[in-house]
Amino acid sequence: METDFLVIGSGIAGLSFALKVADACPDRRVTVLTKTVSDETNTKYAQGGVAAVWDEETDDFEKHIEDTLGAGDGLCRREVVEAVVREGPDRIRELIALGAQFDKDADGGFSLGREGGHSEPRILHYKDVTGREMERALLEAVRARPNIALLSHFFVVDLITQHHLGYLVMKSTPGIECYGVYALDLQTHRMEQFLAGITLLATGGNGCIYRNTTNPSIATGDGVAMTYRAKGRIANMEFIQFHPTALYEPGLRGQSFLITEAVRGDGGRLRNAAGEAFMHRYDARLDLAPRDIVARAIDSEMKIHGTEHVYLDCRHMDRTKFEQHFPNILEKCQSIGLDISRDMIPVAPAAHYSCGGIQTDLQGRTSIRHLFAVGECASTGLHGANRLASNSLLEAMVFAHRSAGEAIGAIPEAALQSDIPAWNESGTTEPKERILITQSLKELQQVMSDYVGILRSDVRLQRASRRLDLLHEETEELYRHSVVSPQLCELRNMITVSYLIVKGAQFRKESRGLHYNTDHPHRHQLVQDIVL
Ligand code: FAD
Ligand code: SIN
Repeated sequence: METDFLVIGSGIAGLSFALKVADACPDRRVTVLTKTVSDETNTKYAQGGVAAVWDEETDDFEKHIEDTLGAGDGLCRREVVEAVVREGPDRIRELIALGAQFDKDADGGFSLGREGGHSEPRILHYKDVTGREMERALLEAVRARPNIALLSHFFVVDLITQHHLGYLVMKSTPGIECYGVYALDLQTHRMEQFLAGITLLATGGNGCIYRNTTNPSIATGDGVAMTYRAKGRIANMEFIQFHPTALYEPGLRGQSFLITEAVRGDGGRLRNAAGEAFMHRYDARLDLAPRDIVARAIDSEMKIHGTEHVYLDCRHMDRTKFEQHFPNILEKCQSIGLDISRDMIPVAPAAHYSCGGIQTDLQGRTSIRHLFAVGECASTGLHGANRLASNSLLEAMVFAHRSAGEAIGAIPEAALQSDIPAWNESGTTEPKERILITQSLKELQQVMSDYVGILRSDVRLQRASRRLDLLHEETEELYRHSVVSPQLCELRNMITVSYLIVKGAQFRKESRGLHYNTDHPHRHQLVQDIVL
């Protein structure tokens, strides 16, 4: 397959970029690949909303900039923060023009929610299913564009570079170039080549490396892992954000249901097993402190009380308002027998967001020519050591716009490469036992959750590193001899991403934002970015 613009991922980042380049270049072909159904993305599950300065009477850009820098704990790039905050409202207007709905107040203005770390209410939302609404509007627009092909059930395995033409490519090789990807067609089980002038990675996050995550099962860090294999630069992977309030359901592994921070913004209060509100002991901003602080506070209360969760108390909240703003949460609680007017909601932190990723510049360019990265898989410098709530959807829209501008300029000189060899599967057979994959995945999630979670230490990281080495060795051996499958590729990618997180955490001999190492509890401005 040949295309001008190749987009990997159909979340907010990929779809926004695809629309921009398709509209600006009606004679060019745009192909979007996605590994399951087109709307199964982290985007679809976004609840709280998108942060932007909207009401200029009460809010201004400087406040949003300062809040973002504050949450990022000294590591945000100011020029990136300025660009995202200042350009964000225009990108939201474009999404509204595409038909996305946001809730309004009785006076007709947008209803603005409040979340942790924000000094003003500035979260535009659609009930508690904002991401679903944004994904719907974007998919509808993409499907209406004749020059966009949206192909679901294509699993991208690797980026194609000079390495596939027989050259030795190392991190230090100048001018590494991306010519497209190898992707497994999950319907025909054939490996296809997609050759492209410009390739965009919009592959989302990696929450699935942990036992409990708010992310759906697609979030396995594929884009980061394939860029690392292609010798591209990856930055700041140690900063994994744990959302403080995922619904606790005993025995559940994998995707946990999120209780949006907006519930705390509307007055929900955290209480420990003894029924005590505890946030005053941790931060003056109480339940609306930035996420790293709230997640650590909950972790500490769970350890003190020997419990697997704390509670979110909504019993005092106005029931009618709750129903209007959080119908999805209400329905979920009812489905498991919780009455929020009578019962407190059991919640625990769960892996939520990857602040690091493929390093990009302000135009979304990676260290590999003709390869861009946008959205959760990218490390743009916006989030620093901790992402401010609801800044992710905003970042994806702003960077999709910026990257599209740059990619459109680059397309005339981005010639399609020919002579790329077909995928070599000689010597491979179907794996005899799936257990070799499923058991390794469980071990990986165990190691990452127990040793590389909210609190880390030198010895935990060292143990994690040794266990990852073994998992890596065994999985690479299996990969060499197996016909590729998404399960095996995802395991391999998750091991790579976990390795990058552990290495980043070991290099960062300090505690900052989301990275807390009990052996190095203080901040030292030793390094800005840890780039691997
Ligand atoms: P995604 O939306 O995750 O899309 C990734 C795409 O890449 C998918 O289509 C996937 O199939 C595809 N893909 C991945 N690997 C491959 C492969 N190998 N081959 C082919 N395709 C591949 N942020 C906010 O700003 N506000 C919120 O309120 C908010 N709430 C959230 C609630 C939840 C429960 C979660 C999980 C996240 C939330 N976030 C929120 C974060 C935000 O939703 C995500 O960071 C953002 O949606 C990521 O968008 P994306 O386009 O980068 O990736
Ligand atoms: C939430 O709604 O609490 C999640 C918001 C986010 O991750 O930005």
